Amino acid sequence: MDFKNKVVLISGATGGMGEEIATLLSKEGCRLALFARREEKLAEITKKLSEYKTQCVYKKCDVKNKDDIRDAVSLTYKQYERIDIAILIAGILVPNPIQRFDSSLIKETIDVNFMSNIYFLEYLLPIMKKQRSGIIAAASTLPDKRGVAGWGAYGASKAALSLFMESLRAEVQQRYGISIITIKPGSVETPMIEGKYRPGALQPEEAAKIIVNGIRKRQKIIEFPLMQVLLTKIENLFPVWMYDKLPLDMQKAEGYPTVEEEYELKT
Ligand SMILES: NC(=O)c1ccc[n+]([C@@H]2O[C@H](COP(=O)([O-])OP(=O)(O)OC[C@H]3O[C@@H](n4cnc5c(N)ncnc54)[C@H](OP(=O)(O)O)[C@@H]3O)[C@@H](O)[C@H]2O)c1
Repeated sequence: MDFKNKVVLISGATGGMGEEIATLLSKEGCRLALFARREEKLAEITKKLSEYKTQCVYKKCDVKNKDDIRDAVSLTYKQYERIDIAILIAGILVPNPIQRFDSSLIKETIDVNFMSNIYFLEYLLPIMKKQRSGIIAAASTLPDKRGVAGWGAYGASKAALSLFMESLRAEVQQRYGISIITIKPGSVETPMIEGKYRPGALQPEEAAKIIVNGIRKRQKIIEFPLMQVLLTKIENLFPVWMYDKLPLDMQKAEGYPTVEEEYELKT
């Protein structure tokens, strides 16, 4: 696919991967609409992209807020009168230790990593159905099939997203010519994993190149890097008794916060 003049909406455009994707697409001649919460960072990125004569709009958007998402989609459509590609990459990684089991943390993760994409779909699908074309690519994670100690909320939010995207894929393609892409990164050295031990992590620029090339080829699943893809596939085959023997420290990874026991009973 030729990206020239394509209208691309990006959520999480201020992040490690989001900013690199915006830069690559800008060099390809796309027209961009960038969204995230940090408005000053969006302004800075837009200024940087003006070097490539990129048409770019941006607006503060908290993806937990459905009205912000409606406004983001509507601003993009009003500005360019079409939306060819949506790259939904906003996300958070928050540990949820069992010593302080807190449903509000879990809800926040589900809201940002899962529900936000559902809101985007609600507003994007009617536009793309009318166009009878479009690509919606959303960021899940490579290990989206097995639970990991201490990271249940993140895993559940991404597993739900992967499954939802898969459930849409064939139908929207066959009925309306819309492509659904699930992006499944392994470790990428962005602010999200700062201070955590992640051997073999890719640089965000490399990850962005893989993602942009995958979208160009309309790959249904974009997963990387290869070694982590293979290890994850092997791990997915472990029977439960074997999987449960993986050391907890290894699952939580270096940098996991130490949490004191909380003895207070919630009633
Ligand atoms: N890095 C990895 O190793 C890795 C691995 C697997 C999957 N992923 C997934 O890849 C995606 C991109 O991650 P990254 O590594 O680039 O992370 P990052 O550098 O931490 O960037 C996260 C982005 O999400 C935005 N965001 C967070 N909460 C938001 C909210 N409530 N409303 C709007 N925007 C929000 C942030 O922008 P503001 O703070 O400006 O709002 C930022 O632009 C995420 O979905 C992540 O789960 C990452």
